[in-house]
Order: sequence, then C-alpha cells, then structure tokens
Amino acid sequence: MERIEEARMLLAGSAVLVLTGAGISAESGVPTFRGAGGLWKQFRAEDLATAEAFARDPRLVWEWYGWRRGLVASCRPNPGHRALARWMLSRPGVTLVTQNVDALHERAAREAATALGVAPDPAYPIRLHGSIHHVRCTTCDFRAEHDGPVDATSVDTLPRCPHCEGLYRPDVVWFGESLPDAALAAAMAAAERADTCLVIGTAGAVQPAAGLAQAVARHGALVVLDPGATAFDDIADVKLTGAAGALLPKLL
Ligand code: OAD
Repeated sequence: MERIEEARMLLAGSAVLVLTGAGISAESGVPTFRGAGGLWKQFRAEDLATAEAFARDPRLVWEWYGWRRGLVASCRPNPGHRALARWMLSRPGVTLVTQNVDALHERAAREAATALGVAPDPAYPIRLHGSIHHVRCTTCDFRAEHDGPVDATSVDTLPRCPHCEGLYRPDVVWFGESLPDAALAAAMAAAERADTCLVIGTAGAVQPAAGLAQAVARHGALVVLDPGATAFDDIADVKLTGAAGALLPKLL
C-alpha cells in the first residue's frame, strides 16, 4: 500500500489531533526557526525571545516582532493551511493545535468558512505559543488584539496599555515561560482523546508541544509530514516526506 493511503486510513479514526509547526507556513514565505534559513540561525533567541531580553531592551524586541508582523502581513495561507481548514470544517473530531504565532491557520479558516457559507470556529486553532497579533500589558496583564505596524523608534513610541499606561509586550510564549493554561489543557485533553496524531512541519525540538504527539503515539497512531528529519521519525507509523502545501491537499 502507498504510504499516503496508509496515512489516510489512520486519519479515518474517530478522533485526530493535528499538531503544526513553522514548516506549514514555509511555503507562504514565513521562515522556520531551525534548519537552513531558520530564524534561530540569523538571530539569537536570548536577545529577542525571553522576558529578560524584553526587560533589557523592549525597543529591540518590539522592532523584531514588528518586522515579523510586517512579514506575515505580506504572506497568504498556502494550499496546506487551506486543505486543513476545509478538512476540519467537513470532518468532526479533529483538533488543530499549533505552535505558530502567524495566524495563517485562522486566515485560511475564515476563507474556508466564507466559501462554504458557514461560521468560522472561534476555537480554531488552539494556539500553544500565543499570537504576534495580540499583546499583553507588562503591568496589569490586560490582553488585547493589536495588529499593524509598531513604531519602535524609541521606548516612548512603543505600544502601551490604555488602562494603566504599562508597556505592552507581544502575547507570545518566550523561552523559559509557561504555556497559556487553557490552551495547554485543551491540547492535552485532545491528545488523550485522539486515536491518531498528524504532525506537520515541526522539528519536535520544543516541549511540551512535542510531548503531545509523543503522548498520542503511546496509545494510538502517529503520522508525520515533513520534508526533513524530525524528533518523531523513530516513533512514526507513517512518515510522509515532503512539503505540506504539496502533500496535504492530496492527503486530506
Ligand atoms: P522548526 O524550525 O524547529 O521546525 C520546522 C520544521 O518544518 C522542520 O522539521 C522542517 O523540516 C519542516 N519544514 C520545512 N519546510 C516545510 C514544508 N514546506 N512543509 C512541511 N514542513 C516543512 O519549527 P517548530 O518546530 O515550529 O517557539 O519550532 C517550535 C518552536 O520553536 C516555535 O514555536 C518557536 C521556536 O522557538 C517559540 O517561539 C516559543
């Protein structure tokens, strides 16, 4: 049997957890983190993606997130995001958990819902690592959607909380920080329920996200879709080697 057929059979189970990483957005033009051209090859995470870095130089950190916002704004969901969004709308029992902060899954879901004349699911996807389009006040913890360009000319021009004038930070998870409780709990519950986990475009280097797929593999099946080597390859029932934008429309 062809590998893609085998994968399709495993995905026919009643409950499926889909875990995505930066790779699913690669064909949209969003850089991944590791590997050739990855963000962590060009930038030091310690300078840009930790609470300490933000306390030391909030202007620099905001400049970087402003750049990433601009980059994502110029990108569009690719056939991989779109195939997943359509599949989720047509098939009950699938939970999508993403480590991505780029909102491309959300944009694909809105487009798919509009095309089908249904309401988009506000819980799609479960965002484990937050969103670059949301902010959190560093003083009072107020959270808000906040999009568009950021003026990072100086600390005085950075976005601030309307309630207490505290400095806003991007509402993303940085190294050394805990994941949002509700998102993690929902993702872990989905992993417990799942018969099959479909992992797409993540190297599997970051916990607890990678642990969700490993947890499903202990009691169910694991399908991995990635053009490169991942931490899941040894425990995968089926590995589909290739790009998400090319393979997902065929698979789903
Ligand atoms: P990585 O950069 O670690 O892994 C990206 C994966 O995508 C690799 O396995 C690539 O082979 C694969 N890939 C590349 N192009 C692809 C394509 N066209 N289709 C499918 N897969 C492709 O990114 P993540 O695993 O998402 O965390 O990284 C996990 C976390 O580490 C991120 O959420 C971020 C980072 O530090 C935080 O910022 C908290």
